[in-house]
Amino acid sequence: MQFKKLLTVLALAAGATLSAAAGAKEMRLGLIVPATHEWTKAANAMGEELKQKSNGKYSVTTFPAGQLGNEAQMMQQLQTGALDMAFMTVAEVTNRVPDMSALFAPFLVKSPHEAEVLLNGPTAQKMLQSLPREIGAVGLGYGVAAMRVMLNAFPTNSGADLKGRKMRITPFPPVRDFYQLLGAASTPMPLTDVYDSLANGQVDGVDADLELVWRMKFYERGNTLVHSNHMMFPVVGLISGRLWQQLPPADRELIAATARKHLNSLFTTYATVEGEMLKNIEGTKKVKVVKAGPEFFGDVPKKWEEIWMKRTPILADLRKEAAAIK
Ligand code: BEZ
Repeated sequence: MQFKKLLTVLALAAGATLSAAAGAKEMRLGLIVPATHEWTKAANAMGEELKQKSNGKYSVTTFPAGQLGNEAQMMQQLQTGALDMAFMTVAEVTNRVPDMSALFAPFLVKSPHEAEVLLNGPTAQKMLQSLPREIGAVGLGYGVAAMRVMLNAFPTNSGADLKGRKMRITPFPPVRDFYQLLGAASTPMPLTDVYDSLANGQVDGVDADLELVWRMKFYERGNTLVHSNHMMFPVVGLISGRLWQQLPPADRELIAATARKHLNSLFTTYATVEGEMLKNIEGTKKVKVVKAGPEFFGDVPKKWEEIWMKRTPILADLRKEAAAIK
């Protein structure tokens, strides 16, 4: 009897959620980047298009700057259904899907355009398909941030100058290994703490990108911009698996296509924004811009490759696909 009652309650609850999904549904989308960041702009544009195309059935409210918690917390909320969507760093997802670490191989791609081809290619797309099983959220598509550079408060003429320096990193193994191989003391730190930490000497430099260096004014606290483009930094659009299961197939298609379009728009955005930000930073005359390719870092990229080819052999497929990009 009690079991029957429980089944009835569960059925009613499921019905209530389903009917909410069948009516107007405001989806909450979390991001750790600020409201002015290109990822947030893309999420807002996606929400507007979705609202228009669904005749108001779906809308998206964005919560930037980690208002809903850090990415680990947002991941949990997606799994329980407390959060509907997120534009999340692939860095965070590597904690659950270690193969995705291969996307951070040094000098795997040279530009946002090459990132677009690789991330929409077979190996990266296969990883995306595995997300419902691995993390309980559906991957809607990839975008990127600007390519990674370093902003340092010390003269940097080669990778050897990083030895013994405290470098802010996004805390996850592929980047940690890169800096460890360079002999730097990698210091995990959220973006919001970087400006002050550069000012007070808690870190000597940061692994970041041109958008962050310009918009978060890190250039005010450094003297050398190492323009290395040493890694790409993908973002993935996620929707809660729980919500997804309740959506009719046509609505899923609409949401997936709209999300993918706006995530993919970031590849073009950064192809333009990177140049603008570099000009802006150069215009301040506050930092010396040092152009750096793989050779700048000596044998570190090769050593990184040896370690990670064993850990994530899927890297070999990515290298092949990357080599074929025109
Ligand atoms: C970072 O941790 O450096 C980062 C996070 C989100 C977007 C771009 C960069």
